Amino acid sequence: MTAGRYTDFHNHLMPAVDDGARDASAAEAALDAFRRAGAGQVIATPHLDGSLTRQPGCLAARMAELDAGWGALCGAVAADAQRHASPMRVERGAEVMLDIPDPDLSDPRTRLAGTRFALVEFARLRLPPVNAASAIAFIRRSGWLPVVAHPERYRNLESMDELEALRAAGAFFQVNAGSLLGEYGSTAQRHVMAVLRAGMASYACSDYHATGEPATARAVSLLAEAGFGEQADLLFAVNPGRLLRGDLPLPVPPVARRAASAASWWKRLLGG
Ligand SMILES: [Fe+2]
Repeated sequence: MTAGRYTDFHNHLMPAVDDGARDASAAEAALDAFRRAGAGQVIATPHLDGSLTRQPGCLAARMAELDAGWGALCGAVAADAQRHASPMRVERGAEVMLDIPDPDLSDPRTRLAGTRFALVEFARLRLPPVNAASAIAFIRRSGWLPVVAHPERYRNLESMDELEALRAAGAFFQVNAGSLLGEYGSTAQRHVMAVLRAGMASYACSDYHATGEPATARAVSLLAEAGFGEQADLLFAVNPGRLLRGDLPLPVPPVARRAASAASWWKRLLGG
């Protein structure tokens, strides 16, 4: 089987370090699942509290855990390569929780595959009322490129204006494949469509926790069947591939209401 064309830079594949893969064999099974979902390149992104980056002792302790998890994942990747002609490319990253507005991302292990891109999320799935944009601006001023994970899942998100403020401060947005399928509920599903209608998302990833199957292939099919194959290709393949090379994303055209003719539920999502 050939390696897939999708690059997934948000998942919890690294074993025994967070709420993702529980051990190396689960990570190996997850690599198989990624292969079935069409991914050929993966950046593993275990949870990391941003506040730890300002506490050297705590950061060293957490990084020791992640170093061990990365070693175990490399073992799973080697075992995977023994079984497949086209091995998965697996790189190291982190999902940094912005529990402080000024994380220190100078350690390359806090960023995505050593690039200038960093995957960040706000704490407790809520956008901070006052300093969300300033946190993004701080990261940009520090020389890094913040990618905000799953903006559609923030429970207090009320309008796209809030995301526009983050984008103006320098954020890129990564939506979850499962949000398109309704896996996080109807509000997140409605919000992800609003984000795509606004043309604000640059990337889509699985946020796979090594349980069940990644939503990647099903989300791509849904978009393609509804007439948004170009957007699906940019979100899941082209732009994540560019990120892995350190390049900025290409613009993703807004998902336009007029193209939604395939299914009534899809038209409802689009507000048609
Ligand atoms: Fe995540």
